[in-house]
Amino acid sequence: MFGKLLSAFRGKPALIKGAGRLEEGQSKRVELGDTLAGGVAVILCRVDGKLLALDDRCPHEDGRIVPGPLADGRYAVCPLHNYRFDPKTGAPANASCKKARTYKVREADGDAEVWI
Ligand code: FES
Repeated sequence: MFGKLLSAFRGKPALIKGAGRLEEGQSKRVELGDTLAGGVAVILCRVDGKLLALDDRCPHEDGRIVPGPLADGRYAVCPLHNYRFDPKTGAPANASCKKARTYKVREADGDAEVWI
């Protein structure tokens, strides 16, 4: 039921209050809806001053991209096989696999809107 409700909002942004406080080279995990019922978890990252969002599901072998300091200040990491992903594009930086899913983000007034 929640999945149906969430799908009604697809195409509309989810608001993440206070996301503007995320510091350069850092990331944090944010759940948008119930992840067991159609919601997603995103890794919100700040690189080159921009807020970016990656799905936390690793495209390699279903590991999870983790929050925390970004590798080299710019790559999100899945610790299962230590693959790094560029939050701007989702592309793997040190391996060959599919891209991680990225989401459009707009930052305004200290908050962020993420289109899932
Ligand atoms: S499952 Fe993420 S790097 Fe292998």
